[in-house]
Amino acid sequence: MRGQNGYFKRDDKRKSFFAELSQFSLCLRLDLIDILCMCRTRLCAFPRFARCIVKLSAPVYACIKVFRCFLFWFFFLDKKEFAIMDNYVIDAQKIKYAYPTIEGSEPKLALKGVTLTVGQGQFVAVLGHNGSGKSTFAKHINVLLRAQEGSLTVVGLDTADEANVWGIRSRAGMVFQNPDNQLVSTVVEEDVAFGPENLGVPHDELRGRVTEALQAVGMQGFEKRAPHMLSGGQKQRIAIAGVLAMHPDIIVFDEPTAMLDPQGRAEVMDTIRYLNKEEGKTIVLITHYMEEASEADRVFIMADGAVTDEGTPREVFSHKDKLEEAGLLPPLATQVYYDLKEKGLDLGKCPVTLKELVDELCR
Ligand SMILES: Nc1ncnc2c1ncn2[C@@H]1O[C@H](COP(=O)(O)OP(=O)(O)OP(=O)(O)O)[C@@H](O)[C@H]1O
Ligand SMILES: [Mg+2]
Repeated sequence: MRGQNGYFKRDDKRKSFFAELSQFSLCLRLDLIDILCMCRTRLCAFPRFARCIVKLSAPVYACIKVFRCFLFWFFFLDKKEFAIMDNYVIDAQKIKYAYPTIEGSEPKLALKGVTLTVGQGQFVAVLGHNGSGKSTFAKHINVLLRAQEGSLTVVGLDTADEANVWGIRSRAGMVFQNPDNQLVSTVVEEDVAFGPENLGVPHDELRGRVTEALQAVGMQGFEKRAPHMLSGGQKQRIAIAGVLAMHPDIIVFDEPTAMLDPQGRAEVMDTIRYLNKEEGKTIVLITHYMEEASEADRVFIMADGAVTDEGTPREVFSHKDKLEEAGLLPPLATQVYYDLKEKGLDLGKCPVTLKELVDELCR
């Protein structure tokens, strides 16, 4: 599955680039050996000339190498793709957005200059109270909405460019809160095939994609079942499979567990973890559950249409004041830590998960 995304293609390009370089260096070295042999045999009458050639050979060799690199870069590499290799897969800079309003009323900004970046393969959580702009931001990643000010690139493609819309949508999938709103067919396999079919994936490839996606979410064997006969957690996993079948690099989850019971939540979180750790997908998880966010590599806090804090879960959850300002409470483990601290018991390290809390208490 992963081999089909652009990042691996770029790796191949990088490999062939360096393979060519080393082959070239080898040829050049052989040429130099030839020159030296020639100096020793035919030009031995001119030892100073031979020494001069040997001395000059190193800088000449270096110059040719640099020139060759430049030529290769200039003519053969797709620089746009190469350029994003070390960049962010989501790069939002000061984006602003106001929903259209009824004529006469003042437009209210839902996003007031959001700057948020996500690296390839990262698991990022976005937290914030109701109406803070999380879903509005998520819809920008998928180009369901377009920034009115600022810039947003997704997998190196500018969302402002109409020509990039389908390219972005095929590489950045979205899973919403209510799976019922995403399920479009009465048979699971048809539902999962819907997205890739619309992207124009050939029919003979569809079967493989559906099987692969259902396996990834642990729903193999459910191909012929009716989605409306499944549990909430199972439906959500089918919705995720539908996105996976499109082979996205990024998956944005907008409160995917909000409507689920603890069992369903655990199932969906297991799937998200698997997709990030085993499949290498970049994950943006919007959630109200601090415990879910504590598993992320980075956490962003949004309040009133802007990012007010960011960092690792431990950093963000230890900024108690900023959390309170954003109308949020830290996860249970962190709260217990602060409560104990107030009572005079300092655990030392601030825990963000219950397991960490238990470890600290048992130390
Ligand atoms: N379709 C819409 N038309 C007009 N205003 C909207 C629309 N959708 C959202 N808004 C407004 O934009 C702001 C941000 O909403 P958004 O849905 O992004 O918040 P959120 O952080 O996702 O909230 P929640 O946690 O409740 O899902 C809110 O003030 C909301 O009222
Ligand atoms: Mg929302």
